[in-house]
Amino acid sequence: MQMAATRVVIRERFSTCATIRGEASLDAIDDHVIEGRYTIDEKIGEGGFSIVYRGTQVATGRKVALKFPRRTTPDLKARFRREALMLCSLRDPHTVTTYDYDHTASGTPFIVMELLEGVPLREALDREGPMRWDRVCKLLRDICSSLAEAHANGIVHRDIKPDNVFIERRGNSERFKLIDFGIAKPMFIVPDDPDMELTAFGETIGTTLYMSPEQRYAGALDGRSDIYSLGVMAYEALTGRIAETPSALCIPPRLEQVIRRCLEVDKHRRFADVLALVDALDQMTVTSTSFARDLDEPIRTIPDLQIINIEGEP
Ligand SMILES: Nc1ncnc2c1ncn2[C@@H]1O[C@H](COP(=O)(O)OP(=O)(O)O)[C@@H](O)[C@H]1O
Ligand SMILES: [Mg+2]
Repeated sequence: MQMAATRVVIRERFSTCATIRGEASLDAIDDHVIEGRYTIDEKIGEGGFSIVYRGTQVATGRKVALKFPRRTTPDLKARFRREALMLCSLRDPHTVTTYDYDHTASGTPFIVMELLEGVPLREALDREGPMRWDRVCKLLRDICSSLAEAHANGIVHRDIKPDNVFIERRGNSERFKLIDFGIAKPMFIVPDDPDMELTAFGETIGTTLYMSPEQRYAGALDGRSDIYSLGVMAYEALTGRIAETPSALCIPPRLEQVIRRCLEVDKHRRFADVLALVDALDQMTVTSTSFARDLDEPIRTIPDLQIINIEGEP
């Protein structure tokens, strides 16, 4: 009885979202999810492609996060499946842990993940403003740890930005975790893999502000593209602004050099990989508590390009 009531509530939630966004109704949640294995408690987040709910695994009582695609066109379902498979291949402690991937009885796919407790980096920056430089160093290290494994597995994330980094708080300590491999892509062509064609050559997806020049121009991508986006995110975390013309930063000059190198327009001038980036952070020798220093040379910006929106992106 209670389960049936829950199912109705969930259906209402989905159709509310669908109405607000003018999208086709997601008649997605059915007995398989609700009555069989997971209950869904409340919406905890959403992005351009997906809606995420707090839920409970019925058999164990474990709290989980359940991610559903906003829409279920064949292309978006294939993209969602690819995200699930990539996530399941990753075990780094700074990547959100994925428990399961399945479909409801009506065929809507969903991903079951660990329920992260904390706030997205986006929310923390909006609420608390710029971060201290040493916290930004930790942000870089943690996300580099996640990316080192992804890149070693041939996966480029392609959507590094504060919305896709979660700050997990445990007691007095915190850990940054990378989520949302929704538009991540294998670096290398796998012959006969139908999923490989989800992003055609020359198509650009991602969030323009954080994109590397090669991603904007829909060129071939490797881990250095994520390094660029990391640089934009780190710069924003330090200053509250997207990399443009900085006036004054209060950070160790070496950290400034590290971020500048991430933001090189020519990918060959960036760090070769995230391990080299972490090495550079390790070499930062901190000798003073004050690093106030004017930056007279602006960080270069890239001209805006028109990007091709894919279905489902706001
Ligand atoms: N495992 C999780 N635990 C808690 N909240 C999450 C989790 N995964 C995602 N979220 C929340 O849901 C939001 C949307 O998830 P995301 O995977 O980024 O979807 P999209 O692909 O649509 O951008 C995130 O910004 C975050 O706030
Ligand atoms: Mg996201």
